[in-house]
Amino acid sequence: MDSMEVNKGIAAILIAGIAFFITGTIGTILVHTKPLDKPVLAIAVQEHGDTGKEAAKPVALPPVAPLLAKADVAVGESTAKKLCSQCHTFIEGGKNGVGPNLYESVGQPHGHVPGFNYTAGLKAKEGPWTYEELNTWLFKPNAYVTGTRMAFAGVKDDQSRANIIAYLRSLSKNPVPLPAP
Ligand code: HEC
Repeated sequence: MDSMEVNKGIAAILIAGIAFFITGTIGTILVHTKPLDKPVLAIAVQEHGDTGKEAAKPVALPPVAPLLAKADVAVGESTAKKLCSQCHTFIEGGKNGVGPNLYESVGQPHGHVPGFNYTAGLKAKEGPWTYEELNTWLFKPNAYVTGTRMAFAGVKDDQSRANIIAYLRSLSKNPVPLPAP
């Protein structure tokens, strides 16, 4: 190969490089990338600033009984399907996901699904899930069980929470009686 051939070879590589650069630049000019208004996949994350310290503060919630008395199970169901079904199933015999199956959970002991890998803090809670406890839990899970793996900020609206609890109550052959309002 003489030096002329080598030069041709180098020139060819340079031209290819320049062409590649130019098409890239034109491409960038022609195709305006627009950021999405909303993320395609909404992932529930803990609220910003949800620290363990903050979680230690007790919450004073209005009593749940009067809210349960006027709760709407169907609304609770659709809210639960929206907010919880990425991690929970609700039907009898449903599979565990990130969270345990929630059929027949009201009135059952904390950590009611045998074999599910609960956090120690949740397992350590004594007694059954009462309506008041579910209310506190769903308001802010990380305040009720510090360090819980239920990575969910909570439902802040009192009636929405009661609607969800009323729906959880209905997931039973023998629902726990509602408390007197
Ligand atoms: C990001 C996943 C995720 C979301 C969203 C979520 N959960 Fe959970 N849930 C979990 C996990 C994980 C646990 C187990 C927590 C532990 O062991 O500390 C749990 C536990 C529970 C328990 C206790 C069950 C038992 O057997 O003691 C209830 C009740 C519950 N979740 C209800 C809900 C409801 C209602 C919603 C929606 C409003 C919801 N969760 C949203 C993951 C989730």
